[in-house]
Amino acid sequence: MKHLAQSLVAVLLPLVVSGVAFAAPNIQNGKAIDQAKCYACHAKKTGFGNGDMIYTRSDRKVKDFARLKTMVAMCNTELRLDMFPEDEADVTAYLNKQFYKFKP
Ligand code: HEC
Repeated sequence: MKHLAQSLVAVLLPLVVSGVAFAAPNIQNGKAIDQAKCYACHAKKTGFGNGDMIYTRSDRKVKDFARLKTMVAMCNTELRLDMFPEDEADVTAYLNKQFYKFKP
């Protein structure tokens, strides 16, 4: 019985700890997701061959933080990229820190 309790703690503790880590946006995770799932398509769509330029082009669509969140959610749902809400928050935070620089 003591053994079982110990293994439960061993399994559950990392879950709890990583849950806490996800509470604040993880910029590195956001960057990794952008590069893995978003960059290539944006590079192709802009025609610049550079997936960052969609965020910095002069006629960009996103004008404030709320719109950025909406746009990330839209690209995620529309394209069925299967991001978790935490991942969406991470990508949003990364894009804002790196490119848009809105005050949330
Ligand atoms: C299959 C192609 C494709 C993928 C994959 C994709 N996007 Fe997009 N995204 C687009 C297109 C096309 C636009 C431009 C829409 C427009 O101009 O109306 C866009 C625009 C955006 C914009 C607005 C840029 C601006 O004008 O300020 C954001 C933010 C964005 N995408 C986020 C993401 C994120 C985050 C991901 C990955 C999780 C992603 N997109 C994946 C096609 C894609």
